[in-house]
Amino acid sequence: MKTRLTPFIAIEGMDGSGKSTLVRRLQERLSLMSDHRYVFTREPGGTPAGEAIRNILLDGNLSGNASGKTQLLGFFYARSHHLEMIGGKRKAGFTVISDRFDGSTFAYQVHAQTADGNEREELDDLFWTLRNNIVYGENAPTLYLYLDLPPKTAYARRDADSSQAKNHYDTMPLAFYERQHAGYDDFLSEIERHGGSEVARIDASQSPDEVFEDAFQAILEHIRSRLILP
Ligand code: TMP
Repeated sequence: MKTRLTPFIAIEGMDGSGKSTLVRRLQERLSLMSDHRYVFTREPGGTPAGEAIRNILLDGNLSGNASGKTQLLGFFYARSHHLEMIGGKRKAGFTVISDRFDGSTFAYQVHAQTADGNEREELDDLFWTLRNNIVYGENAPTLYLYLDLPPKTAYARRDADSSQAKNHYDTMPLAFYERQHAGYDDFLSEIERHGGSEVARIDASQSPDEVFEDAFQAILEHIRSRLILP
């Protein structure tokens, strides 16, 4: 009998959506649940090679001037390493929760970063080709949990907290956030159209406690639907 792979949950959202706080709280809460084993990971990163690539990709001096295509390929290179680790953990029975995954590449590299419609079309094709070869099938997240926030709110939160500026994406203008938001919408609609992965949209304009409760319930429901938990 073919055994069902464990859940693989990707947490997605714009900078300023409260994703880091949510991931930290999920880690704390889920570590108290002894009935199940979790691995928390992140993108770009998650493996020694992936973390080294992260340092290059998020360093504006090294990658800020690279073409959109070069940056997109960099994220998929890191992802390819990451998926080898994720596959092994799932086979060993762990539920994997990743802070960002391929939805971020679609929102940032395909939508937010592109200069015009022609470049966007080219990167859109490249994205789905790579995704269908690297991520598709049993490697795809079983759930995308998306922290949805109006772009203006995400931008204002980012601006109000300058201590959060960690990479060159953190200094982008409002228009970048608007394109990112449209990119996430497109990506998730496409995922829903194709089936295979579930999508949960969480209203990230709520308080951190409310966001946490909604996200936690969505994750538990998803895990329970795939596994037999006590
Ligand atoms: P974070 O770990 O604080 O979320 O920062 C990661 C940054 O990398 C964030 O600004 C989004 C960006 N990113 C991309 O541009 N493309 C991607 O595919 C991923 C995974 C992240």
